[in-house]
Amino acid sequence: MSEQVQQTAETGQKKKRILSGIQPTGTFTLGNYIGAVRNWGPLQDEYECFYFIADLHAITVAIEPAELRRKSLEAYAQLLACGIDLEKSLVFIQSQIPTHAQLSWVLNCSTQFGELSRMTQFKDKSAKHPDNINAGLFDYPVLMAADILIYNADLVPVGADQTQHLEIARTIARRFNQRYGETFKIPEGYIPPLGAKIMSLQEPTKKMSKSDTNPNAVILILDDKDTIIRKCKRAVTDSGSEVVYAEGKDGINNLLTIYSTVTGRTIEESVKEFEGQGYGTFKVAVGEAIADHLRPVREEYARLIADKAYLKECYTRCGTEALRQSSRLLSKVYRKVGFVQSEIR
Ligand code: TYM
Repeated sequence: MSEQVQQTAETGQKKKRILSGIQPTGTFTLGNYIGAVRNWGPLQDEYECFYFIADLHAITVAIEPAELRRKSLEAYAQLLACGIDLEKSLVFIQSQIPTHAQLSWVLNCSTQFGELSRMTQFKDKSAKHPDNINAGLFDYPVLMAADILIYNADLVPVGADQTQHLEIARTIARRFNQRYGETFKIPEGYIPPLGAKIMSLQEPTKKMSKSDTNPNAVILILDDKDTIIRKCKRAVTDSGSEVVYAEGKDGINNLLTIYSTVTGRTIEESVKEFEGQGYGTFKVAVGEAIADHLRPVREEYARLIADKAYLKECYTRCGTEALRQSSRLLSKVYRKVGFVQSEIR
């Protein structure tokens, strides 16, 4: 995107801004894809989009340095392979844009300890990693608020598990605006109507998660067709046999949601399609539909990850623009809170 101040052709009005991020903690899951990333590409024509790899967030949980570096590049290539077009959007790496962490410090001072203590993700991750309850894990939502607020984003497309983080970002923005005068836009969430929470294939009352230790619970967007079908065949379902969307049928409901989102059908259409057919046939059909849908992503990813020089050129160019854009708001914030204006260049 050469000039960031974009206008919509018809109205001449400034385009609204979208921002979202994803952690580079492993290959994206089908949950990441359906709940978030898949929706990012189609938004590019209507909005000015900023997408990034949240590597600063990734170190809140222990990760080997070489692994983080590799996974960050892989995540970058996966985002591009999922249909994000660099002619239309900026895709960058969070740690390369220092303004996020700088704003995050200022926002810390507009955030209450009690508010952060109530975050469910903090409670869940603390329980999961009792030996590493670090301050970064606690402060995670404030950095996320900074990511959003520093670009004055209007809309944040995320899965349902990020709602609480979005809410605190809105609270922090309002509080800052009240104390220092109008500075930040109050962002809205953009949660997809279908697929906002894709569940584990092995425990369908739990969300599908990159960190799940059971590989059969999670479909990765780079899994090959046989693997995807095998995982779907093993998916935990109930003891019934009718493919219907109903209370208590968490496993089938999840598969129906997945099938409908990847084929572009409604749940009702999918249910009708499998009328009179058993779970076995249905599970194979779900696996095939997922694999067919993801084939172009896998192929494009293989092409991109082999070209590290191209990836570097992309994240450097986009990062330069992201830094330029975000520095403006950071200067405004620094002025408002009373820091002496710096002449250091
Ligand atoms: P992360 O990396 O956990 O997940 C990336 C996106 O995937 C969505 N998601 C799901 N959606 C549906 N079903 C699931 N099972 C599922 N699992 C994950 C998440 O809701 C998310 O949209 N904190 C963020 C990264 C972040 C960010 C930001 C996002 C950092 N700064 C600013 C938006 C704006 C995270 O950990 O996402």
